[in-house]
Amino acid sequence: MASNGGGSSNEAWGSRIGLILAMAGNAVGLGNFLRFPRQAAANGGGSFMITYFIALLLLGIPLMWIEWGIGRHGGQYRKGHIPGMFAAIWKHPAAKYVGAVGLVVPLVVMIYYTYIESWTAAFAWFSLTKDYWGHTTQEGMIAYLQSFQSIPAEGAPVYHHEYTPYAFFIGTLFINIFVLSKGISGGIEKLAKIGMPILFVFAIILAGVVLFLPAQPGIGATPWQGLEFIYKPDYSRLGEPGVWLASAGQIFFTLSVGMCTLTAYASYLSKKDDITLNGIATAATNETAEVVLGGTIAIPAAVTFFGVTGAMAIAQSGSFNLGFATMPVVFQQLPFGNLLGVAWFGLLFFAGITSSVAMLTPITAFFREEFGFKRESVAWSLGALCLVFGLMHVHWLQHGVLDEWDYWAGTFGLVVVAVLEVIIFMWIFTPAKAWESMHQGADIRIPQIFKFIMTYVTPIYLLFILGWWGWVDALPILLNEKTAGGGPVNPADTPYITLARAIIVLFAIVAVVLIKMAWVRNKYDDRKGFALADHTGEAA
Ligand code: PHE
Repeated sequence: MASNGGGSSNEAWGSRIGLILAMAGNAVGLGNFLRFPRQAAANGGGSFMITYFIALLLLGIPLMWIEWGIGRHGGQYRKGHIPGMFAAIWKHPAAKYVGAVGLVVPLVVMIYYTYIESWTAAFAWFSLTKDYWGHTTQEGMIAYLQSFQSIPAEGAPVYHHEYTPYAFFIGTLFINIFVLSKGISGGIEKLAKIGMPILFVFAIILAGVVLFLPAQPGIGATPWQGLEFIYKPDYSRLGEPGVWLASAGQIFFTLSVGMCTLTAYASYLSKKDDITLNGIATAATNETAEVVLGGTIAIPAAVTFFGVTGAMAIAQSGSFNLGFATMPVVFQQLPFGNLLGVAWFGLLFFAGITSSVAMLTPITAFFREEFGFKRESVAWSLGALCLVFGLMHVHWLQHGVLDEWDYWAGTFGLVVVAVLEVIIFMWIFTPAKAWESMHQGADIRIPQIFKFIMTYVTPIYLLFILGWWGWVDALPILLNEKTAGGGPVNPADTPYITLARAIIVLFAIVAVVLIKMAWVRNKYDDRKGFALADHTGEAA
């Protein structure tokens, strides 16, 4: 199957299981174990889950198939990047430029995501060595985390050398780039085959431990109350737009839709390969990891130790407090707590790295396919770029630069990409052709109702989200009336935030210029489209 595949840069997946693990590795990430519990707890548990499943059905799963379809279609013309994929469908000079977002978004997300991933590596080490032992309260652990991030509060003690986060970031980035330099089957697929089983084993162990945590004196809550909080349907907050938006945002992030990485991975498939079954299998694996495992670890643990209201307050207090402060507090109370800590942060690390390696694949494909550069040179050059801009995040975390990138690329950007994808694939390409393209080599037929959903419901839902977000978040954030991270506005941070935005704009300009250069260099004719890749054995 995949081994004789088409695709870009003459690369292909080694096996179907490798492909599924890599795709699942791409989707299963920090989003499943850190972001999901936090979003669920901060947005009303049972209410959030209802809107979450609606978003899964109407946005997540349709977009999953659409992205596999766009990606594989692009791969037929040896295009593993969005500018090329869009141009392969929409024979208009604008298509490639619109696709520039498809290079910028994953690059930007990769940079800050790898930095967060490096915290998990650090905390796995701190768990093993019991470095944070003794910080047994939530406040104590938050102070410890902030000390590690080099942002201790005024007068707070400092527990780490100020270069510690830099060292972990550089090490983590190095491993990412090394894997990337080994290519699709030799690097990414191998990593997924090792990382994914480890991740699931660690997650199952932790979920098992958490479910049998005894009720704590003075709190009286059990892990089961944590489960009930998430899984018991609750209709009380369905009227709040914020809950709908948060769940849609979570579906995007967790399934990696709008990130241009699923499309890149799918470009290494041939026409004979199935995408309908593989697409839904990827979504199902991700949802199991998220709802079953992700839901069974952090929230029930937090509820047992802090009660339902305590857990909700923690979730609202900051993106990482549940994973990096509450969980370590819990581990310190348990036998073999340091090993459980290694399992938790190790699981996060593997979840993170199998996602972050995906984020540089679109841009790597772009440079290889359009400029003929060698994989190793592209990988290490991109590594240098990520290092420079990553250091900015390490250095200026407290000024909100990471939140800013996470908002514009990792939240808003995903929806923008998805809107473009649906319009180009479902409307410009036409529903009939899109449907036929998705079913080439298919092992199962997608239920007919999804043709309607993909053509009408998904785009309308998306435009609605984009409009609403634009109005309630994007505009006020852009005008510095509120912060991307949700904290209070601090005028002293404005220059840093402006710089963070300027860098994204700069990336976009460079992307447009590079796209222009690539088209001139390869003498592409936008109205004609591209020649089919040679190895598909068909005439252009
Ligand atoms: N889906 C990943 C997560 O849940 C994040 C991700 C987004 C990974 C985009 C790759 C591409 O953490």
